[in-house]
Amino acid sequence: MQIYGKELMQIKKLDFGKINTELAAFARSGDSSINSEYLEISKKNLEEIVSRDSEYVTNKTVEFLPLNRLNSQNEKKEISKAIENVIESGQYTSGPNTLILEDTISSIYGKNYSCVGVASGTAALEISLRAMNIENGDEVILPVNSFAATENAVMSVGAIPVFANIDESFNISPNEIQKLRTKKTKAVIPVCLYGSITNLAEVYLASKKFDLKVVVDAAQCFGIKEITSFADIIALSFNPFKNLGASGKAGAIVFGKDKLLKRKLREISYHGFDPEIKNMKSRDWGYNLKIDNIQSSVVVAKMPFFRINAIKRAYFAQKYIHFLSEIDSDIFDMPLFSNQHTWHLFPLLVKKGLRDKFIDFMKNNGIGTDIFYPILSCNYNTQLADRASKHNNFKKSVELHDLLVNLPIYNHFSLEEQSKVFSAMSDFISMHE
Ligand SMILES: Cc1ncc(COP(=O)(O)O)c(C=O)c1O
Repeated sequence: MQIYGKELMQIKKLDFGKINTELAAFARSGDSSINSEYLEISKKNLEEIVSRDSEYVTNKTVEFLPLNRLNSQNEKKEISKAIENVIESGQYTSGPNTLILEDTISSIYGKNYSCVGVASGTAALEISLRAMNIENGDEVILPVNSFAATENAVMSVGAIPVFANIDESFNISPNEIQKLRTKKTKAVIPVCLYGSITNLAEVYLASKKFDLKVVVDAAQCFGIKEITSFADIIALSFNPFKNLGASGKAGAIVFGKDKLLKRKLREISYHGFDPEIKNMKSRDWGYNLKIDNIQSSVVVAKMPFFRINAIKRAYFAQKYIHFLSEIDSDIFDMPLFSNQHTWHLFPLLVKKGLRDKFIDFMKNNGIGTDIFYPILSCNYNTQLADRASKHNNFKKSVELHDLLVNLPIYNHFSLEEQSKVFSAMSDFISMHE
């Protein structure tokens, strides 16, 4: 088996110093609400922090993502207060929280960036494509392994999704741009799956060679500032399962400061109305896909917790990587990934032929796993998939995808649960080596 994450496997011990410097810098950027206690994190108190709001209950099983633990008790209190305030005000749809949300999000990406809140990550993609003038008959290149929202957004504007192969990073392979580009190609949508921005720079440069627009599907990698260097426009999701989740559907679009573009995004997201004049159209039409004030209020309420949650995810990921390097087994590997990573999901590769046995073994041992996403776009039972398979050969993507499984990682996961995952993985190795 090819070792895709070889250099990772050489990390022989957890580098807490590195985690501290990188994450403290991350925690310092942008958000003044972060408690300074988090800025000096030693190994000891990092573990305390991780344990403090893991909300761990001594279940025998380890769920992949227990829905009743999407938020900590403290987060739930803040969410309830925020929602109560909105109920009191009656401003469920339009209201002041959206502007606060937009300011907070844009400040994370830097002073040269603006943000428009929208109804979901899918809406963020649709509205962004429309704003980039992608229309009927245009072709848009995107990876074959994304969530259905990515291709659906392309089709919703009348454009044609052109599926590209992935490489060992599980992100779009940069070589595919030149290969798939035609006169009709107008845009590329790289997807930062799992939270990794691997290949983004290369895909951006390959796209710009042909003057293509780059709309980054950043639904899984909110918070990585570097994306701004490799995107014309960034689509974010705050659905409840994301690292920063609302209590329903929510999303946002981030872009370089441009008043005209901002206006256009607002018009497209709300009935073509002039953003300054109530019920006055300034564009032929627009969607009803503005973010609700109530969802904005939830995201704003959760913002002060976001950075510490990001640190916790990075810590769990480091522990997985450390475990994999210690056991040094041929059975497990990882996709290549970037230093900048939100660890929205933890992808593992299992030796050819053993992946499904591994999933069953984990299930029988009470450990939930999942595959994101289980069916490649070329393998759906749809006309689009049939056409895609005639257009490109996805053998490499299929081979890679057949190795993939995702292990549990979420904001309020616990160290106890993670050790149960380790011990089941060790047992699996003993049976198969
Ligand atoms: C990669 C990717 N793109 C797009 C979306 C769509 O986001 P939403 O669910 O907010 O519409 C998601 C969310 O599941 C996603 O993971």
